[in-house]
Amino acid sequence: MVAVTMRPASGGPPLGCLLALRFLTLVLWNVPGAWALDNGLAMTPTMGWLHWERFMCNTDCNEDPDSCISEKLFMQMADLMDSDGWKEVGYEYLCIDDCWMAPERDSKGRLQADPIRFPSGIRHLANYVHSKGLKLGIYADVGKKTCAGYPGSLGYYDIDAKTFAAWGVDLLKFDGCYCDSVEQLANGYKNMSLALNNTGRSIVYSCEWPMYMWPFHKPNYTEIRQYCNHWRNFGDIYDSWESVKSILRWTSSIQKTLVSAAGPGGWNDPDMLVIGNFGLSWDQQITQMALWAIMAAPLLMSNDLRQISLQAKTLLQNKDVIAINQDPLGKQGYLLREEDNIEVWERPLSNLAWAVAVVNLQEIGGPRSYTINVASLGQGLACNPACLVMELLPVKTKLGFYEWTSCLKTRVNPTGTVLLRLERN
Ligand code: GLA
Repeated sequence: MVAVTMRPASGGPPLGCLLALRFLTLVLWNVPGAWALDNGLAMTPTMGWLHWERFMCNTDCNEDPDSCISEKLFMQMADLMDSDGWKEVGYEYLCIDDCWMAPERDSKGRLQADPIRFPSGIRHLANYVHSKGLKLGIYADVGKKTCAGYPGSLGYYDIDAKTFAAWGVDLLKFDGCYCDSVEQLANGYKNMSLALNNTGRSIVYSCEWPMYMWPFHKPNYTEIRQYCNHWRNFGDIYDSWESVKSILRWTSSIQKTLVSAAGPGGWNDPDMLVIGNFGLSWDQQITQMALWAIMAAPLLMSNDLRQISLQAKTLLQNKDVIAINQDPLGKQGYLLREEDNIEVWERPLSNLAWAVAVVNLQEIGGPRSYTINVASLGQGLACNPACLVMELLPVKTKLGFYEWTSCLKTRVNPTGTVLLRLERN
């Protein structure tokens, strides 16, 4: 097991180059932050499933036996992730959120699962999940209590990290409720990172540190990146277009800060995918999938894999879009321009390719045409001297070759997105 150190995320330069690198990072704000938590994990954004948005803190297994937070729910999801093609396309981490715990620690001060809802315990669940070729995520909180009021980890970081490692847990989502001060919050997040590292087990560390920091002051993303594999910045996602829009609006409003923080080993987390639920229209689901790919976001679905439409499943399993999200270059995309309620986002990809998303934010009327001068894309390089353009969403279509001087016409549904991939020619 490696120690937590600052390191170049992708075999970067020796220390002698540090100053030059810092200068470059300042100039090219969309170059991913170079220094990441050195646990070798999350070299591309984490993919999986997380229970919170869809199942929340439903603990009533008498009233709602099929949807309460219980080992049965996670075993069923593990079965489906294995059998229904989710694992094949990359959804690997099956993650438990809040409300899995018993209300008290055990006599040795260890967290324990609710004995009624998790009668076989987390170790058994982890074995089951591993037997399906998947990984298990769990949830805890840096403060005195979890957000839903279960035991917090304050004062127990080492013991909790050891417990999770002993159970065979592969990811920890660490929430930030019930902290007394920003210092306690920051120290807690750092100490848990060190405690996880000390266990010797590879555990992805998913933080909410900056989200709880913002009300007090601007978070230090260089530092956060040294301790966390991904980090929530903004409030919880809801199953609604308003919520998805607010996340996109906030992300673009602060993108210089966020984009430079992201890169292999450490990612901004705009929260779960709510595709396949109740609140988003088809076009809005396309927008979430496309923009989460552009933003290099962890793809953590929160939906019911037992009852998901074929349409939503096909979108979530779209290999071309997942390839953009998982692009090994690991640079987060950004809003390039906004005019008349049309947003153009772009993301640099490996092999000089670019992803471009055209979003129609006008919520009145029908599909709108939008013409792009291809010379304006990819910092003038994407189609220089020419590029091959594929539409990936809504429908996979080869649009053909475009020379540097040509224009590309798109037609975008209200609240929908056209997602393109441009290969340099
Ligand atoms: C906070 C987090 C959510 C979820 C809940 C659980 O609100 O931001 O993602 O984990 O707590 O209580």
